[in-house]
Amino acid sequence: MLEDIDRLIEAVKVFHAENQQELEQFRIRYLGKKGILNDLFREFRDVPTNQKKETGQRINDLKQLVTDRIEEISGTFSGNSESDRHHDLTLPGPSIRTGARHPVSIIRNQIIEIFSRQGFTISEGPEIEDDWHVFSALNFPPEHPARDMQDTFFISRNPDVLLRTHTSSVQVRVMEREKPPIRTISPGRVFRNEAISARAHCIFHQVEGLYIDENVSFADLKQILLYFVHEMFGPDVAIRLRPSYFPFTEPSAEMDVSCRLCGGKGCNVCKHTGWLEIMGCGMVDPNVLSFNCIDPEKYTGYAFGMGIERVAMLKYQVRDLRLYFENDVRFLDQFSSAH
Ligand code: PHE
Repeated sequence: MLEDIDRLIEAVKVFHAENQQELEQFRIRYLGKKGILNDLFREFRDVPTNQKKETGQRINDLKQLVTDRIEEISGTFSGNSESDRHHDLTLPGPSIRTGARHPVSIIRNQIIEIFSRQGFTISEGPEIEDDWHVFSALNFPPEHPARDMQDTFFISRNPDVLLRTHTSSVQVRVMEREKPPIRTISPGRVFRNEAISARAHCIFHQVEGLYIDENVSFADLKQILLYFVHEMFGPDVAIRLRPSYFPFTEPSAEMDVSCRLCGGKGCNVCKHTGWLEIMGCGMVDPNVLSFNCIDPEKYTGYAFGMGIERVAMLKYQVRDLRLYFENDVRFLDQFSSAH
């Protein structure tokens, strides 16, 4: 049987067809239902077990060769074959399947665009950081629980090397480099040692903002946040600031937006409160300015920070944050957008 196959292989190698018809006959002879290859596969069943491997391989070689040969020969016909001459050139071309941007990228780009319009620059920094930039320079006392192993991924056994838990660290780097006025946002990936659930993930993305100048007030902060919310969610969405605490801001607040699903009346998503929390903010603590060699007598500033996935969840009304990380094309395909 092997010899037969080898003979066929040689024949296929030198086969030529003058036209499409001859090529089609060749195809049927080999690959047709009652063709040579199917015969061979049928005979293959009776081949003794010790020869099965080699014979099977050889039949597959032959099949591959036939397919390649058909493609090769048909390539030489294109342009002058009967079917090509009757091709309708006015038909639209085959569509190209393009990828879609990830929803987190779409929202990040929208956030960047909104703040850029207000004169914010974009700053980026390392994901692997040291204690100073993530905690100490931001006025975290040494015993603050956020430094705890529970929240922070430390690298090896050196507690000074860690994965940043927020992109405020980037703003410390900006304050080291630049003199006020500083007006910047820092988008980026952050890491927290948290159990993964529908509302939390150990890796997510943030955009944090910082504005330092003379006479920056809480009213300026409220104004920029209101502007952002109206641009992102629409002019009917209201904001609410609740007192809160962060080591690096004083006073500190958490901002809620009115629930778009129920229009503030109360529903499952907003847990019947009519409000959804979207970011932390506040006036930069004078200690933070001093740590970074900025005179707190002369300058004041505001800061804010939000999770991109959270904004995306509210905007797209996706209820499970994990969907953003699974890379299931059926989910991602729904967000194709020009952004
Ligand atoms: N860094 C805070 C966080 O990651 C957010 C924040 C930024 C709060 C700036 C206040 C001011 O949760």
